Amino acid sequence: MKILAIETSCDETGIALVEASGGLKNPKFRVLKNLVSSQIPIHRPFGGVVPNLAKREHLKNLPILLKRVMSYEVRGTMQNFMKSIDLITVTVGPGLEPALWTGITFAEELAKQYKKPLIGANHLEGHLYSFLLSPPSSYLIAPTSIFPSIALIVSGGHTILLRVDSFSKWKRLGETRDDAAGEAFDKVARLLDLPYPGGPEVEKLALRQAQGKHQKGTINFPRPMLHDKNYDFSFSGLKTAVLYYTRDQRLMTNDTKTKANIAASFQQAAIDVLATKTIRAAREFGAKSVILCGGVAANKALRRAMSYEVRGMKLKFFVPDFKYNLDNGAMIGAAGYMAYLRKKKYPFRANGGLEI
Ligand code: KG4
Ligand code: ZN
Repeated sequence: MKILAIETSCDETGIALVEASGGLKNPKFRVLKNLVSSQIPIHRPFGGVVPNLAKREHLKNLPILLKRVMSYEVRGTMQNFMKSIDLITVTVGPGLEPALWTGITFAEELAKQYKKPLIGANHLEGHLYSFLLSPPSSYLIAPTSIFPSIALIVSGGHTILLRVDSFSKWKRLGETRDDAAGEAFDKVARLLDLPYPGGPEVEKLALRQAQGKHQKGTINFPRPMLHDKNYDFSFSGLKTAVLYYTRDQRLMTNDTKTKANIAASFQQAAIDVLATKTIRAAREFGAKSVILCGGVAANKALRRAMSYEVRGMKLKFFVPDFKYNLDNGAMIGAAGYMAYLRKKKYPFRANGGLEI
């Protein structure tokens, strides 16, 4: 079936066209088009996402992106284009509610005007399924070699560890008790005077350190909850440790070498906790694979560390293509398809705190 998917949960406006097949047990996806309009330059001067600005930008971008998706697909009218669509899906949560509402209202109007079925999608399920969007994962891997799996969802708003038993059944093993991993990257970036969003900037700076003498940074920042016998995480203490360190060092903003060392040491501490707890869960639950997803999964050092550990245990490692790590419409297409098959009817209202 051909799915038109809409994502506006935060600061990326995404519209995608996804061809889905295979059913609940063996879903396959072909991304026909995946357009994302990033608002980073708009929010950057404020050091973070401003919900009302995000809303304004989504309202402006949605019709433009829809027209662009249409023009790639067919010559002619919106009417013709919409004829080829079997299902419309839209993120209903979690996310910023004013931003979510723009997508929901837009999708509802489209569904009404062109008489198409509409289904709500869970943003976190989108991240979870995003590794299926690239052909090798989607077409060559038998579901029997994936499950049980351990999935780590790491984004700007969430850090969640799941035991996944099938494409439609999972159990939450743990989550962050305070800041999400991406949030910690963003806050540390701010301490280091790096622009928003901080994750990629911290990674870039850490790389400078890695190219120097000391591969992983030399400051021994804490690894919160590393040895606790649960699967929860905590990142606010790590961020505070970075704050105190920078204060104690009376860090000069132009001291790139020290800043690179801090970035690399912080990143390594965060990765150690994320990878260690994920691997421990994989061992405990006899997982056949590990799934890494969410915006922070774009971090190459995290991907490398997880991949090394997971492959060392002879398990499969799934991580989305770089273009599907950050928020996008294609992953919502996948989540919408699965929700449709699971008959999961999320209400059509913005639910900022929706859980997976
Ligand atoms: O999934 P996402 O696009 O949005 C949410 O659902 O939150 O994730 C965004 C988060 C931000 O906190 C951003 O700083 C972080 O992902 N991020 C990274 C990297 N790229 C994005 N964190 C670390 N390293 C990266 N390369
Ligand atoms: Zn996200």
